[in-house]
Amino acid sequence: MSGKGKEVKIEKLQKLDHETLERLIEIYMKAYEGMREYGGEGESYAKRYLRWCWGKAKDGFFVAKIGDRIVGFIVCDKDWYSKYEGKVVGAIHEFVVDKAYQGHGIGHKLMDKCLEYLRDTGRIELWVGEKNYGAIRFYEKYGFRKVGQHGIWIRMVLDTKKEINGKAD
Ligand code: ACO
Repeated sequence: MSGKGKEVKIEKLQKLDHETLERLIEIYMKAYEGMREYGGEGESYAKRYLRWCWGKAKDGFFVAKIGDRIVGFIVCDKDWYSKYEGKVVGAIHEFVVDKAYQGHGIGHKLMDKCLEYLRDTGRIELWVGEKNYGAIRFYEKYGFRKVGQHGIWIRMVLDTKKEINGKAD
């Protein structure tokens, strides 16, 4: 599916320059409007957090673009030590689509890219706000399941070898 009639491309982010960071912050802040408790306190938090994501998972930082405009992103980490799992797993640190483009299949395209990238990690972990029902439903459709809760955050996991595209190893 294409976002608003134009082709959506999924690309690895090449560099996090000032302009790109500002655009990602804008997408992030708008997407979490009305869910402030899950999206940080404000722009300076978002800036620090997105820089942290870039530093931690450069190879798995994918953006959705329509033309030259970034309309969403997903941050996928192949090397995340999960203290809950007691081992290194795959992780999705952040996943956001520009509010104006949500519901057009862009999230699915980003998630497909992410799952392909994290396919060999065996298990993928993510944390989602307990009342973020739309996102929880989205993840459940991919086979993620709730395995725990810490405060307002729900931990979800997906066993990749078993569940991604039914390609059991
Ligand atoms: N209302 C309705 N459906 C929603 C909603 C919502 N608020 N949020 C997500 N969905 C789900 C539906 O299940 C829908 O399912 P369908 O494909 O069967 O119709 C699906 O999303 C829509 O798919 P897309 O159009 O591909 O998804 P979209 O481009 O809207 O992106 C995303 C999904 C990234 C969750 C987007 O809604 C968003 O940015 N939300 C705000 C930020 C957020 O909550 N991110 C996840 C936080 S957890 C984390 O980052 C690890």
